[in-house]
Amino acid sequence: MSLRSDAYIDGQWRGGAKRFAVLNPATQEQIAEVPDLGAAEAEEAIAAAHRAFPAWAAKSAKERAAVMRAWYDLMMADIDRLAALISREGGKPVAEAKGEAAYGASFMEWFGEEAKRAYGRTIPTTTATRRYVTIKQPIGVCAAITPWNFPMAMITRKAAPAIAAGNTIVLKPPSQTPLTALALAELGERAGLPAGVFNVVTTHDHTSAIGKAFCESPLVRKFSFTGSTEVGKKLGAACVGSTVKRVSLELGGNAPLIVFADADLDLAVRGTIASKFRNAGQTCVCANRILVEDAIYDAFSKKLAEAVAKLKVGRGDEPGVEIGPLIDGKAIEKVERMVAEALAAGAVALTGGKKHDAGAQFYAPTVLANVTREMRVNREEIFGPVAPLIRFKSEDEAVSIANDTPFGLASYFFTRDVNRAWRVAERIESGMVSINDGIFSNEVIPFGGWKESGLGREGGVEGLEEYLETKFVNFGGFV
Ligand code: SIN
Repeated sequence: MSLRSDAYIDGQWRGGAKRFAVLNPATQEQIAEVPDLGAAEAEEAIAAAHRAFPAWAAKSAKERAAVMRAWYDLMMADIDRLAALISREGGKPVAEAKGEAAYGASFMEWFGEEAKRAYGRTIPTTTATRRYVTIKQPIGVCAAITPWNFPMAMITRKAAPAIAAGNTIVLKPPSQTPLTALALAELGERAGLPAGVFNVVTTHDHTSAIGKAFCESPLVRKFSFTGSTEVGKKLGAACVGSTVKRVSLELGGNAPLIVFADADLDLAVRGTIASKFRNAGQTCVCANRILVEDAIYDAFSKKLAEAVAKLKVGRGDEPGVEIGPLIDGKAIEKVERMVAEALAAGAVALTGGKKHDAGAQFYAPTVLANVTREMRVNREEIFGPVAPLIRFKSEDEAVSIANDTPFGLASYFFTRDVNRAWRVAERIESGMVSINDGIFSNEVIPFGGWKESGLGREGGVEGLEEYLETKFVNFGGFV
């Protein structure tokens, strides 16, 4: 796999008159320059995907699965180089990036297999003269806009079900991490994907123009977005308002992680670190606020702060590094502002609380005690390595704090009481609940949120449904 830095449209590598720099967030060094394309190229990619659709949809699921399997095998064979690229343009430690590359590849394997099982139904008839069935069919051209925090997995979680189900797709990767998307296109080409089935339109300045083209094109029948709730609402409205296309939105979160007094505290500390500090806290499902029961608040805070203080911060390619840089200057400023506000309002930094001296975009892993419900670190997604601790006195209070947010993506809690585990899992308002475990994502589960955290599910059988239409067929005239 060579470093690809041109866009990929209709099976061709495409340059552009204007290009933009992709920087390593750890050092701000330039890695490559990528074409800054606009609405015209987005339309061209949509037209290519439209042309490619009938032949791809006509293949059997088994034929498509063979290509998906070859794509998966190529990704796994090149996993070290993919991990190095993800780490270089996105900043996460190489070991973590390798985990993402395997996670990303797993969607190719899973959906290639699962699309063979896109079953319809036979519905018992209401009348002797008729027979009823449903069949599942691909939707058509899909368009996707993906985020920088998982440069590979957030693409494959959309592209794999779309393509396995017989659709074609046009992708706009983020301007911070387009190189992984292009590497994926190269491996797809080598796996035997026909021209136009998978297209990558890179852009820096024209994100909104490309988003508009995706949302308003009558040729695009399905749109999928991962990113902020604010942007997702606008894109979703544009898709429905213009051409009533199918929409999946994976949006912001504000995940609570509750530690009950009956929890195994060491397990809870490990789980909190795994959830909160994954990708330096830049994950939609990261624990955003840690709710700790009064009786164990001091013991838990001490253990957590001691463990967090030991996390190794540095460039993703340094051995043993656990916390990389934040993605850009804006991200650092936001975290600095949120922590400063919390400290000014009475929070206390048990460790961290400031930038890290590893470089301009590094923030020290932080634990904040004495956080209140009013503080912005409790109300808004931090997207940085900061763990705010909030004290609670009863299960009802914990659930009420957890649910007091417009978001409902993920939530976590630690308890050894099986009755409480069921009770709280049922009462929490979020699409995903993880008990006694800080990480749960994989290809077989339905990933997605309640409330303003999104629409639809990605992964699992539910993730395939998002890329299929159900057609009802009536066979009449039986005698
Ligand atoms: C995300 O940040 O949205 C993705 C996290 C995951 O897949 O676990």
